[in-house]
Parts: sequence; structure tokens; C-alpha cells
Amino acid sequence: MDQEFRREIAAELAQFKKDGVYKTFNHLESPQASRITMRGRGEVIILSSNNYLGLCDAPDVVAAGKKALDTYGAGTGSVRFICGTFAIHEALEKALAAFVGTEAATTYVSCWTANTGLMATFFDERDVVVSDELNHASIIDGIRISKAARRLYKHSDMKELETHLAQTASLRRRFVITDGIFSMEGDICKLPDLVELCRKYNAILTVDDSHATGVLGKTGRGTAEHFGLVGQVDIVTSTLGKALGGAAGGFTAASREVVDYLEQRSRPLLFSNALPPTVAGSALAALEHLQAHPERVTKLRENARYFRGRLKEIGFKPIEGETPIIPVLVGETASAIQMSQELLKEGVFVTGFGYPVVPQGKARIRCQISAGHTREELDTVLAAMAKVGKRMRLI
Ligand SMILES: Cc1ncc(COP(=O)(O)O)c(C=O)c1O
Repeated sequence: MDQEFRREIAAELAQFKKDGVYKTFNHLESPQASRITMRGRGEVIILSSNNYLGLCDAPDVVAAGKKALDTYGAGTGSVRFICGTFAIHEALEKALAAFVGTEAATTYVSCWTANTGLMATFFDERDVVVSDELNHASIIDGIRISKAARRLYKHSDMKELETHLAQTASLRRRFVITDGIFSMEGDICKLPDLVELCRKYNAILTVDDSHATGVLGKTGRGTAEHFGLVGQVDIVTSTLGKALGGAAGGFTAASREVVDYLEQRSRPLLFSNALPPTVAGSALAALEHLQAHPERVTKLRENARYFRGRLKEIGFKPIEGETPIIPVLVGETASAIQMSQELLKEGVFVTGFGYPVVPQGKARIRCQISAGHTREELDTVLAAMAKVGKRMRLI
């Protein structure tokens, strides 16, 4: 390998370390659950996981993955349209469409690919994509790949969104895309306004419900259910890698024509292997589990409400909201990293986020609550946070 290239990369990595933004991986030695075994650390309570419903290690979800492995083998050996479509894909997609409330759905290996495979398929130089400035990186990359004009609106600023829609009214297609729950803030998009504006300006609305599937709405159907607007969102993208078993995979749910067109033209579906059958099997079991046990969604909501309330009583000021993503601002990046490390010493694993993932001065630790947490575990975490918060003079 070219030595100069190696030296340049090594210098940049050294700078990451100097700036305190170098990421080290924690190695887990047990399934994802409310308590995990971390190599070199032992058992810790985890508040960093997207395992919102606690289904990663649910026996029926694990068993379904094993059964799919036995039935279909380890891999698809192909993309969907050649010979990579298995019966389990069809069953999962039907179930996902019924769950979200659309005519059809198609699966991808991740929501990342669902998003990057969406915009370039439908929008080109004749069109505009209008996007919330805090949308997920996969949406940003999806917009980059598309040849459509780009407009960003300030986070949840519906006035600015309307201005963009009004100014682009002469274009062929207007496409509005938003996260359902924003991953770093934990707030919910203003779906009623988005639906109204998209109707007014004849725009196509997509909601990425990755953090909202299984989380929002009485039965976990997502942002649309939360607002009583099921059927009003044109396209829903989401992940199977968070609440729905947490393995991997994503999907796009929409009208039959949109899904059919994606299967004909969306490049990740045409040129990349299909979702492994084991993952499809586990995701389908997770979906069935959720529908049989909506009380998991209720428990998640109660846990989040309890934790948020108690955090405030202790003296922290989490970003206001009603979702299981509860960010606690601590200021500088170094403080977020320090707090995360101090909490780990107390047996609590919560990740700190700093610049450039979040703006300068708005570093935070992001607590993510699960239905799998017991009250006792949450109380243990709160006691650790109080101890560390006082030590660091944050409360
Ligand atoms: C809003 C949003 N969209 C997409 C993704 C990507 O999901 P996946 O892990 O399935 O690629 C994430 C994951 O962090 C996300 O938060």
C-alpha cells in the first residue's frame, strides 16, 4: 500500500484521538437485553440500545430465526429478482404493510439502504426534495444520490417548509421527508402540519419511522398512529434493527405501485443481496409478538415517563419530550465522554454524544429506555446518575 496514504490516515486518526472524538468499541458477550455482559467490565445496565421493546433476546424471536435458518439456510445467494426471494420475505412484507397500514411493503438489508434507494428512484432534475435539517444521515445520503433540487428547512419549522413548497410549486414533483422521531433530540415530527402542507402543495410525504416503529401509537404502529393519521403518509421507511427484534433490515411501505416500482428500479434491491432469511424470520416473529403483546408498548411508555420525571426531580434538565429517547445536555464533548465513563464505573452504560454528531456546546448523554427495563434497574441508573451528576457539578 502507498506509504504516504497510510501516513495521512494515521495522522488523521491521531488527531481524532487528540480531539477526543475517536470511538472505541465495547464488546458485548451476552445478548442485547436490559443488562448485558461487557468484556472487561462485567454486567452493566444498558441505556444505549435501540432495543425499545426488549425483543432482541425474546425466546420466540430467537427461535424463529433458528427455524428460518434451518428451513432456508444461511443466505439468499442472490438479489431479490434473480433467485433471492424466499417465502419468508413475502410473509414479512405482507405483515409489515398490514401493520403500517399501507397496501404493500418491500424489505431492504437496512433502513439505510431503504432511504438511499428511495429518492434516486423517483426524483430527478425535474423535482425537489425538501428535508428537515436534523434528518438521519441515510436520508441526507439518499438526497445526495438523487439528482433532484435540495431544500433544507430548519428543524420542524413548518413556515420554512411551506416557503420551500410554495417556491417550488412549478416543478414536476415535490417530495418532503422527515424522521418520525428525531434520533438525537428524541422529539416527534409535526405530522399533522406536514400532512396538511403536503396536501396543500401536492407534495409526496415520507416519514422515516426507524425510532417510532414499535414505539409510538397505542399499538406501536408509529408516528401516524400517534397522531391518528394512519393512511395519511404516502411512504413510510423504517428499520427492523431497533424495536422489531433489533437484528438488521429495513423496509419501505407505500401504495402497491410505489412498492412495485421500487422492486423494478431501486438500485440496492437490484444490485445487493436480499435480507437474510434468519433475520426475516426473527423480524416477523417480533412483529407478531408485538401485536400479541401491545402491553410492551405501554410498558415502554410508562418506563420513559417514569425515568424522565425522576431525572427532573434529581435536578437534570433533559430535553423535553415524550419518547424513550431522553437526551441530557451536559455542554462540552469532553463532559459527555467523562459522564459516560463515570457512569460505566457505576455499572451503567449510556453513550455520550459530542461534536460533530451534535452542535458544539450541545454535547449530551442520550438515555434510551426499553420496555425490558425493570423499575429497579431504572432506579439503579437514576442513583448512579445522581452520584455522577453531583460529582461533575452538573446538578
Ligand atoms: C432515522 C433513522 N433512519 C435510518 C436508520 C438506519 O437504520 P438501519 O440500521 O436499519 O440501517 C437509523 C439508524 O440509526 C435511523 O435512526
